Amino acid sequence: MVTNPMPPFPAGFLWGVSTSAHQIEGAVKEREPSVWDVFTAEPGRVRDGSTAAVACDHYHRHREDVALLAGLGVNAYRFSVSWPRVNVPGGLDFYDRLVDDLCAAGIRPVPTLFHWDLPATLDWLERDTAARFAEYVSVVAARLGDRTQQWITLNEPAEHTLLGHALGVHAPGKRLLFDALPAAHHQLLAHGLAVQALRAAGATDIGIANSHGPVWPASGDRADVEAADLYDVLLNRMFAEPVLLGAYPQPVGDLLSDGTRDVEADLRVIAEPVDFYGVNYYAPARVGAPQGTGTAFGGVPLPAGLPFSLRKIEGRPLTDSGWPVVPEGLTELLTGFRDRYGDRLPPVVITENGCSGEGLDDQDRITYLDAHLRALHRAIEAGVKVRGYFVWSLLDNFEWAEGYARRFGLVHVDHDTLTRTPKASYAWFRQVLRAQRSRD
Ligand code: NOJ
Repeated sequence: MVTNPMPPFPAGFLWGVSTSAHQIEGAVKEREPSVWDVFTAEPGRVRDGSTAAVACDHYHRHREDVALLAGLGVNAYRFSVSWPRVNVPGGLDFYDRLVDDLCAAGIRPVPTLFHWDLPATLDWLERDTAARFAEYVSVVAARLGDRTQQWITLNEPAEHTLLGHALGVHAPGKRLLFDALPAAHHQLLAHGLAVQALRAAGATDIGIANSHGPVWPASGDRADVEAADLYDVLLNRMFAEPVLLGAYPQPVGDLLSDGTRDVEADLRVIAEPVDFYGVNYYAPARVGAPQGTGTAFGGVPLPAGLPFSLRKIEGRPLTDSGWPVVPEGLTELLTGFRDRYGDRLPPVVITENGCSGEGLDDQDRITYLDAHLRALHRAIEAGVKVRGYFVWSLLDNFEWAEGYARRFGLVHVDHDTLTRTPKASYAWFRQVLRAQRSRD
């Protein structure tokens, strides 16, 4: 039970929930295949053997889901547009209806233009994919831009690179280790080209959603500190700094400068100014020198030979994804970003935060969200400019390689009947929103 009243957030704060197309829409026949359809069709890729062919069937039930959003009292909804759906004739009609229904309910649509469901015919290792992305973004902006001010270009290029291209546990299932870096560079280039395309279409509120967390060295020993620094580069800095500073941290800059591309010219595109910086926060990482094989991200096996190892964060409760609950990591992350990037850091939006767990009476989720909101408030008190907070997620959904086994929703979804049932956390968040929004 959480009893202390939540301190007041700034007036006009964006209060929302997030979802993504592949994780909720279903209606697989009404779109082209994506890399995730190909990946999940391979045996053994998804823990429970499931696919997102139906997911939450949001494509056919979006009215019910917009009613759930309205009942919750959010003033913003972050969803993603499926590129493979936009590629089929009439595919954009769905997002047109969704945006209309959101606007009618007084909810600001915040579309993400890429949330990992790349058309199966494309590949982020190809530079041309960035240009194709910008073309697709122009098409979406031309259709939705009259009712959509705020846009997110990419979701978590770090995870899409690391899990999908370096470790092969997400689509497209490539195990390239450091040779995956061009996939990250091309996504970042796609981000910069998309910012240009959105500006050309008249958009005024553009950002990216990057996943970040503090990286703590396992000890003060030099080997541990160096390993943690490298991990910080790979997870945080190499995605933040090209966007915010127009530069890659080392060794990434050198690794990408292999004579096949003009990195400096690309960085000028990647550093197109953004209006807000989206942060997905889940947990910090404790990192030390290499220690044989190990696991990361709640059980993903890491290959031997990596220049770092992930260690347990002791003394913390774990969510059922195996992630430690460390709310103050969010304060540390945001004040650290403010200190490191100063005026180059635009106002922050927490574009995802949440936890997985079972049950309708989800007190653990309430405790998690309550503590993270308070931690966010502490960052605001410390002077970090924060514009909004989005819970991951509205609905229990297809949690990628974990299938339907991990439930992140404020609303329970019975994956056999597709019945939606609000959980205790839905009622709790509604109360928070009512109190906070009464000051708007
Ligand atoms: C980050 C991703 O953006 C989202 O798709 C995923 O479901 C959540 N984290 C939880 O793992």
